[in-house]
Amino acid sequence: MAALTVSGEVRVPGDKSISHRALMLAALATGESRVRGVLESADVHSTAGVLRALGARVPDLDADLRIGGGGLHGLRASSAPLDCGNSGTTTRLMAGICAGYPFESLFVGDASLSRRPMRRIARPLEAMGAQVTLHADSLPMTIHGGALRPIEWMNEKSSAQVKSAILLAALVGGVDAVVREPDASRDHSERMLRASGVIVTAHDGAVQIIPAAALRPLDIEVPGDPSSAAFFAALAVLADSGELHVRGVGLNPTRTGFYAALRRMGATLRFEDEHDQGGEPVGTIVASASAGVLRATVAQGAEIPSMIDELPLLACVAARASGTTEIRGAAELRVKESDRIAAVVANLRTLGTDAEELPDGLRITGSDRPLRGRVITHGDHRLAMAFGILGAIPGNAITVDDPACAIVSFPGFWELLASVTGHSGDGEATRGNRSSLT
Ligand code: S3P
Repeated sequence: MAALTVSGEVRVPGDKSISHRALMLAALATGESRVRGVLESADVHSTAGVLRALGARVPDLDADLRIGGGGLHGLRASSAPLDCGNSGTTTRLMAGICAGYPFESLFVGDASLSRRPMRRIARPLEAMGAQVTLHADSLPMTIHGGALRPIEWMNEKSSAQVKSAILLAALVGGVDAVVREPDASRDHSERMLRASGVIVTAHDGAVQIIPAAALRPLDIEVPGDPSSAAFFAALAVLADSGELHVRGVGLNPTRTGFYAALRRMGATLRFEDEHDQGGEPVGTIVASASAGVLRATVAQGAEIPSMIDELPLLACVAARASGTTEIRGAAELRVKESDRIAAVVANLRTLGTDAEELPDGLRITGSDRPLRGRVITHGDHRLAMAFGILGAIPGNAITVDDPACAIVSFPGFWELLASVTGHSGDGEATRGNRSSLT
């Protein structure tokens, strides 16, 4: 059978979580912020659009963005609903910001977002004094904010979006907040708030914010998104020969669980050139061809939040590893852009992989038989790309029903994949349904 060889280096677009936060904090800062390398994806456009609807002066997204902040109290009521598109991060973080303002905001989103749980932010924001109404626990959601009270909150789930909503509400509302969660979730909000001059401490699983009178403008370069780099690390690991360098990637330890799991599976993978970039660790991921040596792993417990968005991809890699991989403690996957447990298992089975749903995860038994069939993404960007990587393995013949949804987090994904695999990048490649042969 033909073999896949990888070589050279790639760069992936800016980190989605950091891009959302950079736009929000820049809009609330006093003075002009500079944000280089912001992710120009559909989700980040949603955040920019919501901020503009609230009166912030956010220009069209580009590689070198300057944003004149209006101060912590500079937003005003929007006459139109705040359209968050497909973006949970936009909804939940902006809900926190709006909770600090004495006006009403109406949040709406697409069909997928309108199914996602919002009670988890409504409860703490109500405890702080905001009035929140939901439609069957989801969008449409109205928030009437204003005079807030300090809060100490225990998140039932580990969720950076809920944690960030509370921190942002406290910031705008000018009150103290302490947030605890079962396992540490990504800490980009805390890091960026500190870079903006806010006192945010974290110890013994508790994050505390002390109110600040004003935010310093940001001057940051957004690192490459480790969740986007993960697709190319996975491709390299599944290849038969060669190695791939992914440069300028965020290596925040709250985000790198997927890479640790790949190593446990026997993959050769290392981080190089690690350095600090505006308060975030950044470096190069060097991933080497490891086909034939990959073995099953168990992913569970405290590491799950650090790989939450990569779990569909981990399941796809597991489909090529020897033995049975088990992912546990990941019930949150059921309330992402799709029910990722049900959707990943159904798609893997369609392709000919043994996979089983668990209430809080999945079990995948790997093989090296050719995987063939059509993947149903439910419009979920991470499913499209995860199965696109399996589709790039010689011998597999996979079509993806909605490759275009990759634009939610990774514009240019299919073109980059085609360029790495050496494929011509024709219409077939952009439909994500071919294998690359060398
Ligand atoms: C995100 C947090 C995570 C993650 C999402 C982005 C963020 O969601 O899945 O893609 O930027 O804060 P949860 O907060 O629901 O865990």
